[in-house]
Amino acid sequence: MFKDSSRCIVIVGAQWGDEGKGKITDVLAEQATLVARYQGGANAGHTVLVKDEEFILHLIPSGALVPDVKCVLGNGVVVDPWTLLDEIDVLEGRGIGITERLIVSRRAHLVMPYHRMLDGARESLRGEAKIGTTKRGIGPAYRDKVARTGLRVCDLEDLVGCESIVRAACQAANGLLQSWDLADRADPRRIMADLEAIVPRILPLAGDSGATLLKELNDDGRVLLEGAQGSLLDVDHGTYPYVTSSNTTAGAAAAGVGIGPTLIDGVLGVVKAYTTRVGNGPLPTELQGDEADLLRRLGAEFGATTGRPRRPGWYDGAVVRHAAAVNGLTALAVTKLDVLDTFEELKLGTGYTLDGGQLEIFPDRAPDLGRVEPVYETTAGWGSDTTGARSWEDLPGAARTYLERIEANAEVPIRYVSVGSARDQIVRVPIPRVA
Ligand code: GDP
Ligand code: IMO
Ligand code: MG
Repeated sequence: MFKDSSRCIVIVGAQWGDEGKGKITDVLAEQATLVARYQGGANAGHTVLVKDEEFILHLIPSGALVPDVKCVLGNGVVVDPWTLLDEIDVLEGRGIGITERLIVSRRAHLVMPYHRMLDGARESLRGEAKIGTTKRGIGPAYRDKVARTGLRVCDLEDLVGCESIVRAACQAANGLLQSWDLADRADPRRIMADLEAIVPRILPLAGDSGATLLKELNDDGRVLLEGAQGSLLDVDHGTYPYVTSSNTTAGAAAAGVGIGPTLIDGVLGVVKAYTTRVGNGPLPTELQGDEADLLRRLGAEFGATTGRPRRPGWYDGAVVRHAAAVNGLTALAVTKLDVLDTFEELKLGTGYTLDGGQLEIFPDRAPDLGRVEPVYETTAGWGSDTTGARSWEDLPGAARTYLERIEANAEVPIRYVSVGSARDQIVRVPIPRVA
């Protein structure tokens, strides 16, 4: 993705998350000097395979597995400090030195135990209408941020001030829990004791993410801004209310680290060669029964954060076109092509109809998206193993046709095709292509 002139690239999921952003970020991080997360929190689960070792990162950027790459958690991330320290300890325990090259924005909001409690409680109250959240406290933490009642990393410098924020938040949370007839209560004294115990480890990591990135770019560094979740989970542009609580799309990247949007040179959209979703909400190309089981098994589609089975479906071009528009995608990385190797026939969604009419604009109401009929093109499968492909020419003709249909539908050029979870299982597609 990096051209001589490209110094700052956003990597964004163009479906419902789990597109393989971790793998693609790790591959591109070899040419980068700094990787930053700009939104979301430990609801993310980014898998990176280094040789035979699997790492699942929830908060720390996927550049962490490349030695010497600096890692930043931007101000737009909501940081559960206990999860962060566990993740650091696991990495350090596995021989990955991270502490010295990690910066956490002083402006980032903290996810506290009462946020997790409220996330779980709200979900249980919703019953059938539940969102299916990861229960990591993400929604309640962003709620406190916009309500201006949140606790930030920089607040840890003043434990007296901290305590008054925590007390007020616990009082509010306990009032809600009581009104819902739930027995759980947040204990401010215990929370403060647990927080005080980790302050000596968190504060040394705290810094200014914007200033760090500006310096990196001024020093000729190369920066990746790694999105979490996917564009269809964006709180504005996704399938509201079945979304996460942040702007996942590229427009949020600059604000989420504290630089100007004029410094961003390109936006890489990561798409699976098919579709998955974990949690509730409409999924127009969803497969059922044996076909769903087969795709889930072949793609090992189980959540990296919660272990929940993901809901699989055919590739949905309407989704990716919507993502291309709202992110301004400049290139695509198509992942998990190898998962489709054994299919005799593949269906590729090119658009939707609703009440008999062709839809030009992606539906904004979840119930409407739940009623659309996908329009499919059927293409022949390739029936051969693509996991060894390392160039466009190595890919079977039918696979290239499938990818070209994706490209034509999205009107965005494909720069990478991933054919396995390992680092080297990547096809770098030249632009323009010869074959
Ligand atoms: P992320 O959240 O977007 O980083 O994606 P996840 O890590 O949650 O899920 C993607 C899964 O697919 C992980 O288990 C990856 O190791 C795996 N993966 C990534 N790229 C490929 C690929 O090209 N082929 C196969 N078979 N697996 C892949
Ligand atoms: P990565 O970064 C897939 C989904 C949840 C739920 C909704 C809201 O690994 O792609 P939340 O806990 O954020 O309030 O849940 O969003 N969700 C994800 N789905 N991948 C993710 O992250 C997700 N993070 C949240 O399943 O439907
Ligand atoms: Mg994931």
